Amino acid sequence: MTTNNTQSPAPAPHEILVVGGTGKSGRRVAALLPGARIGSRSGAPPFDWRRPGGWTPVLDGIRAVYLGYPTDVAAPGAADDLAAFARLAREQGVERLVLLSGRGMPWAADSERAVTGSGLEWTVLRGSWFSQNFSEEFLADEVRAGSFTLPVPASTAEPFVDLDDLAEVAVAALTRPGHAGRVHELTGPRALTMTETAEVLSKAVGRPVAFHPVGADDYRAALVAQGLPAAEADLLLHLFTEIFDGRNTPVTDDVPTLLGRPARDFTAYAARAAATGVWAPA
Ligand SMILES: NC(=O)c1ccc[n+]([C@@H]2O[C@H](COP(=O)([O-])OP(=O)(O)OC[C@H]3O[C@@H](n4cnc5c(N)ncnc54)[C@H](OP(=O)(O)O)[C@@H]3O)[C@@H](O)[C@H]2O)c1
Repeated sequence: MTTNNTQSPAPAPHEILVVGGTGKSGRRVAALLPGARIGSRSGAPPFDWRRPGGWTPVLDGIRAVYLGYPTDVAAPGAADDLAAFARLAREQGVERLVLLSGRGMPWAADSERAVTGSGLEWTVLRGSWFSQNFSEEFLADEVRAGSFTLPVPASTAEPFVDLDDLAEVAVAALTRPGHAGRVHELTGPRALTMTETAEVLSKAVGRPVAFHPVGADDYRAALVAQGLPAAEADLLLHLFTEIFDGRNTPVTDDVPTLLGRPARDFTAYAARAAATGVWAPA
């Protein structure tokens, strides 16, 4: 999908803002762009989605922005936040926005439109489920303890995308021509069922890791019992039951086409994560 054909010369790293630059995807993007400005509450100057009055100095001198919206790109209020950010970015001379979105999530359309309708050069990265959810997110503790639980059947197959691949594509979209007006669908090289995922994790961890499918009601009750507000539990449940209904199983060739090499495989990811000690017994 292409909406414009002109792109400005590449921005230098110090002209790039990585919003969510301390998060899972953003810190990898920032690591590939030494000198880029970090957009987070701990950045300098600090950036807080809840305090739009403080955005102006964060955008000063910035030409390209990676947008990782916290928690979920389709969370209530996300589209309005992104639209307000894009408006200010345009006023302040930003030329290019690269939005991290999710694959198979029509309910993220308003958030994507906030960027694609901004009048700026834009690229949307629709990521599959991240491999790193098993080591840098809520599943890490479960995997370390020997299992993981999701409200999906064991036969559900997902082509997990490695965030190191996603970050390389993001950097290309931020700094090189040819990405404006395009949606990239980023997956790994193969889809693994949850059973196969558990087998790969077991080998990498060196101990059995089982997959426990659980019903939607039980999953929601467990989330709430862990302290998640009911509205967030509902959002997570909606997300999981929808995106794991088979719509996201097909593998795309966007990563190999864009990076000129195969996408990183989940087995290699699991070995790398295990080597960090993240799943070592506590
Ligand atoms: N998980 C998946 O499998 C998956 C797949 C596809 C797409 N996505 C999308 O990925 C996005 C999340 O990206 P991620 O996983 O890379 O991020 P993340 O690891 O959840 O990190 C969140 C980032 O946002 C910052 N942040 C949190 N609250 C903030 C606030 N109020 N103001 C400013 N910054 C704030 C955090 O920094 P500070 O705490 O320092 O402020 C941190 O840098 C979501 O939009 C989600 O929909 C996720």
